[in-house]
Amino acid sequence: MATQRNQRNFGVPGCGYAAARRLRLCGAGLALAALVGWLGFTTGEAAGRLEAQEQSTWSGVYTSAQASRGEEVYHSSCSVCHGDDLSGGEMGPGLAGNSFISFWDGLSLGDLYNVMSVSMPQDNPGSLDTAQYVDVIAYMLQESEFPTGDGELSEGALGDVAIQAEAQ
Ligand code: HEC
Repeated sequence: MATQRNQRNFGVPGCGYAAARRLRLCGAGLALAALVGWLGFTTGEAAGRLEAQEQSTWSGVYTSAQASRGEEVYHSSCSVCHGDDLSGGEMGPGLAGNSFISFWDGLSLGDLYNVMSVSMPQDNPGSLDTAQYVDVIAYMLQESEFPTGDGELSEGALGDVAIQAEAQ
């Protein structure tokens, strides 16, 4: 299973999914790597990441109304492969819970959005509106039991929100 995951390539230009996982260099990650190098951290990846991404999935970055909208989109476009409760099935992997979140740990919601918007739904990639993809992310966060907040998640904020398996 793990090997299969590592071999996935979602076709994000210049930002191979497996490569992003391996190197954590993708978009803002490049600037971040420069920053980390400049600061002279040898083991400072986490510190550098926090400076670039002040928010995490624990910060209350979406609302429950947004997650409800995302749930509707999910059930019309995604659940056939990823399961009614996001736990996955024969046609696709799970999209919530520990194994999903630890797989994405340290990447941003922007990275998740990039993969989803380019390659999903697999039978009609890129067919949703930006707002619909963002709402589905809100629903996925809710189902992984991350807290809600006062404001909705917006496309512009995605890259600033780190996916973290553990609250810090
Ligand atoms: C026709 C089946 C199908 C549909 C519909 C579908 N997916 Fe997928 N999805 C897959 C498969 C299969 C994978 C495994 C990765 C790959 O090989 O592309 C995947 C992978 C993913 C991943 C990466 C999961 C990980 O951790 O590796 C995300 C996120 C995702 N899908 C989100 C969505 C969303 C959101 C929708 C609805 C808008 C959707 N998918 C609709 C089949 C589907």
